[in-house]
Amino acid sequence: MKLPGTWHRMVVLTMLVALGGIAGESFSASRHAASHPVVDSKGNLRVPDNYQTRYESLGAWSIAPKPGAGVAQMHLVYASPRAIEQFRRLGHFPDGTVLVKEVWEASTQSMTTGSVSRPSHLKGWFVMVRAQHNHHPESKLWGDGWAWSWFDAGNRTKTTSTDYRKDCKGCHVPAQMTDWIYVGGYPALKSN
Ligand code: HEC
Repeated sequence: MKLPGTWHRMVVLTMLVALGGIAGESFSASRHAASHPVVDSKGNLRVPDNYQTRYESLGAWSIAPKPGAGVAQMHLVYASPRAIEQFRRLGHFPDGTVLVKEVWEASTQSMTTGSVSRPSHLKGWFVMVRAQHNHHPESKLWGDGWAWSWFDAGNRTKTTSTDYRKDCKGCHVPAQMTDWIYVGGYPALKSN
């Protein structure tokens, strides 16, 4: 019987699983059905593979072009696996958490429930990766505890963002106290 060897393997395996559990998906080996990491070695982001089936749905926003008018855009927000449970436990998103915000043009039609808007045309994605310690201080897309990028629909791998301080940060100042994230829009983050 080679019990010690088996035992050793089990311990190592358990540790690996535990480590994978701590690091979010972008910094760990690909445990999930994703073939590409969200962050490459140079710190460039990409839109995560298959996030619509692998990620958790965080919430949605509807944007009216002017008060009183119908819905012009819908924003659907996803978070990497287990982010919601970890947020509820810790009160913040842990390192490696990936957030994806789809930006959709909306179309509105009359349905049996009333005047109903739905996503119709994808404009692109905002992607953020949590990193309290800045892994890429040389990049203008890393800082304030996150990596930040926008991707036009049709190009999931090459961002058009050049500097998060100009492209993103100003608009997220109202959410500065909650790590720059508009957490108030996501009922799932509150345990109920
Ligand atoms: C015009 C203002 C504006 C700009 C520019 C902007 N954001 Fe946002 N962002 C918001 C607002 C407001 C929300 C929440 C409401 C909504 O979606 O309309 C939001 C939500 C998000 C979310 C979902 C998580 C959350 O905070 O609720 C992500 C991810 C995100 N933004 C990433 C980015 C990134 C990355 C950039 C830059 C490339 C960026 N944003 C630029 C205003 C902005």
